[in-house]
Amino acid sequence: MRIILLGAPGAGKGTQARFITEKFDIPQISTGDMLRAAVKEGTPLGLQAKDIMAAGKLVSDDLIIALVKDRIAQPDCANGFLFDGFPRTIPQAQALLDADVVIDYVLEIAVDDEEIVKRLSGRRVHEGSGRVYHVEYNPPKEEGKDDVTGEPLVQRGDDSEETVRKRLAVYHEQTEPLVGFYCELAERSPETAPVYRKVMGVGSMDD
Ligand code: AP5
Ligand code: ZN
Repeated sequence: MRIILLGAPGAGKGTQARFITEKFDIPQISTGDMLRAAVKEGTPLGLQAKDIMAAGKLVSDDLIIALVKDRIAQPDCANGFLFDGFPRTIPQAQALLDADVVIDYVLEIAVDDEEIVKRLSGRRVHEGSGRVYHVEYNPPKEEGKDDVTGEPLVQRGDDSEETVRKRLAVYHEQTEPLVGFYCELAERSPETAPVYRKVMGVGSMDD
């Protein structure tokens, strides 16, 4: 099973990825998590990505495409994978097609912008695992601590309201066109194109 989760920042891609990858026993490939790890480790990729991410802009297509191609060649991707936060531009989606990577489903999680600002201002994350919480909607068992390891939770550097609004603008301009891209693909080649489904992301996490 090969799945793309498409959705604005804070739509709940990481949250739903946990459920889906467990159900299908496939790895989650979050380009955002991979980039944050690179920034933390200070690798050459991290050094290039750091300021771009802090400003809420997108890292260059070439860097991302190379990162993803390398990741999906790993043995744990043999039975499929779930992309969280990739592709995010038309050139990234086109690169997948050009590399003959067949995708089964594209799931769009739709949430409106004001709800997203609320979600991201209350988000807390466990850096080591990428587990995601919300101070109100999905609080950890013990305040400020990860449920599994007990380690401290942190706020992401790009979750300030100002940066969230920039990320939303970038999403509407550069990522939302992928909806049209995949819908057209489905019309043009129904046999090989991924199935496209839009899911409202505003119910409870379990819904
Ligand atoms: P990335 O890490 O991908 O961030 P994003 O797309 O902005 O998405 P988020 O991780 O913020 O949100 P999410 O949809 O995962 O929501 P979550 O489940 O956490 O990318 C970060 C940066 O890296 C980019 O800005 C860019 O610079 C760079 N980058 C990454 N990929 C790239 C690419 N392909 N190309 C170029 N650059 C790239 O949920 C959010 C909050 O809401 C949580 O607190 C959660 O608990 C809560 N919540 C979730 N569901 C619900 C619900 N149903 N009800 C109530 N609360 C909920
Ligand atoms: Zn995420």
